[in-house]
Amino acid sequence: MVVEQTVRPGDLVLDAGAGTASTGILAARKAAPSGSVTCLDLCDEMIAVAREKVAREALATAINFTTGDMCHLPFADNHFDVALSTYSLCPLYDPARGVLELYRVVKPGGRIGLAYSDTPEQPFMQWLTNKIERMAWLIPSLSMGCRAIDVLPAIQHTDARMIMNRKIGIPLWPFRVIIFEKSDHPLAV
Ligand SMILES: C[S@@+](CC[C@H](N)C(=O)[O-])C[C@H]1O[C@@H](n2cnc3c(N)ncnc32)[C@H](O)[C@@H]1O
Repeated sequence: MVVEQTVRPGDLVLDAGAGTASTGILAARKAAPSGSVTCLDLCDEMIAVAREKVAREALATAINFTTGDMCHLPFADNHFDVALSTYSLCPLYDPARGVLELYRVVKPGGRIGLAYSDTPEQPFMQWLTNKIERMAWLIPSLSMGCRAIDVLPAIQHTDARMIMNRKIGIPLWPFRVIIFEKSDHPLAV
């Protein structure tokens, strides 16, 4: 959904916290033939797996790989047409900072697509999720580094135009999909 709503042929795309490039590969197919995708991840091992996976795909679009921190993106302001983050804001120590970095590196009029774990609405489900998350975090690999976050206040702090804000998933583990567009005359954030 995130890729469908954001990427167009010819786009320069950033997949931030790309992991094994599942989202990056979908974006590359959509940006073909003249676009390109940069997959960034903090973890060299993830990038190594992503490289192998991409090499097995017959892609008409270039995919580049970079090791880096989403909270300090190594790119100039207004560089990409699209920035994507699927489940990679959740493990950040400062998810809001990560979103503002995505906003910074996208061109005016460019699009940002996010998917992340959200908090259940019903109090009982919140209580249950917290219990399960706490137990999962006793063995960090079980948690997959994921926790519920809320980056809407950070987005509202910018002058972005909201295109989609939708809660999906199941009551115990809801996810949020957000698509927004950078203003043509962005305020400094
Ligand atoms: C749950 S995985 C999601 C991977 C991929 N986007 C997907 O949808 O399959 C989270 C990824 O975020 C990466 N990550 C965690 N902290 C990061 C940071 N500060 N900067 C960049 N990547 C980070 C992890 O290494 C991991 O590959």
